[in-house]
Amino acid sequence: MKFFVDTAEVSEIRALAESGLLDGVTTNPSLIAKSGRPMAEVIKEICDITPGPVSAEVTATDYDGMMREGEHLGRIASNVVIKLPLTEAGLRACKHMVNNGVMVNVTLCFSAAQALLAAKAGATYISPFVGRLDDIGQDGMQLIADTVQIYDNYPALRTEVLVASIRHPIHLIQAAKLGAHVATLPPSVIKSLYKHPLTDKGLETFLADWKKTGQSIL
Ligand code: E4P
Repeated sequence: MKFFVDTAEVSEIRALAESGLLDGVTTNPSLIAKSGRPMAEVIKEICDITPGPVSAEVTATDYDGMMREGEHLGRIASNVVIKLPLTEAGLRACKHMVNNGVMVNVTLCFSAAQALLAAKAGATYISPFVGRLDDIGQDGMQLIADTVQIYDNYPALRTEVLVASIRHPIHLIQAAKLGAHVATLPPSVIKSLYKHPLTDKGLETFLADWKKTGQSIL
């Protein structure tokens, strides 16, 4: 499973890239706004430090506007993935961009029918939002199960399931068990994955016992 980080904070991405576990980055207009910086500058810096795909989202809602913004964003770096909303215009733009060799992440997916449409439009990634579905009392993970099953039924569909709006490690584990290709995780969730109280306690005991021996490995 690939791990993307869902943030526009360059310092956080740099630290995560050093871990060697980061496969890509996703951003959205809200995350760019939170960074307080010009979008093109932020995306360029992220692309320079990220080995894999970096999603940058258009803000136009009409087909022509999406195509223009997509072209502009695509010129920033070769690893930019154009993020398009799951609308009629978005999927039309998706089809056109993919036919021209552009990677596309279709975002704001909340139903299996939408996920099927995005795959038919040739999306590189589909982003179903699990946390936002949970927030309104629906089962976000069921959407991942349905999407993975539908895509598996039709091997000609090459779209990867990119689980988005992840709120905690259980979302990640459930998505991995279902065979989703990618998870995009907030930095706080990535940090929490390392943690287990028995790891801390075990290490403390090992080091205390080692100290008593008076030995040194080097
Ligand atoms: C994904 O591409 C989105 O940027 C993101 O996962 C949305 O997460 P949120 O629902 O926590 O805002």
